[in-house]
Amino acid sequence: LVASMDGVEETYIMVKPDGVQRGLVGEIISRFEKKGFLLKGLKLFQCPKELAEEHYRDLKDKSFYPKLINYITSGPVVCMAWAGVGVVASARKLIGATNPLQAEPGTIRGDLAVQTGRNVVHGSDSPENGHREVVGSGRERQENRQWKGRIRKST
Ligand code: TYD
Repeated sequence: LVASMDGVEETYIMVKPDGVQRGLVGEIISRFEKKGFLLKGLKLFQCPKELAEEHYRDLKDKSFYPKLINYITSGPVVCMAWAGVGVVASARKLIGATNPLQAEPGTIRGDLAVQTGRNVVHGSDSPENGHREVVGSGRERQENRQWKGRIRKST
């Protein structure tokens, strides 16, 4: 079982509004499933502005920040918690570079996107952020207990 192995991490993967609108949710989930990671929780969610600002707080001073907040709150997103050994770094590799034109073919962004501002998916950049983004704080912390299941992979 994954839970009994060393180095098991959790990461937060989010299909952004363009990914949901373009019908790419299944394709994106499929890549993480095929790789062998474990889906621990999933919800369709309209992100409130305050939570989007909290999620992207490190980018507050960037020129693209207002557009980023508008984009991420423009429609429903799919929030997921994925677990596995080394899942944080591996998910970043599966996702590809921030700018989809620089992302390698074979990665999600490399195969499915063109614009940085419409790059279809988010993945946590460190185990600490993975934990923070999955667990949330305040009100979402309570809600997250409800959507994060306890799925075990059968052997
Ligand atoms: P960042 O955390 O640097 O990238 P990543 O999503 O690969 O971890 O940036 C967060 C998001 O901000 C990124 O996915 C898209 C948006 N963004 C822009 O719109 N323009 C930019 O120049 C950059 C760097 C990011």
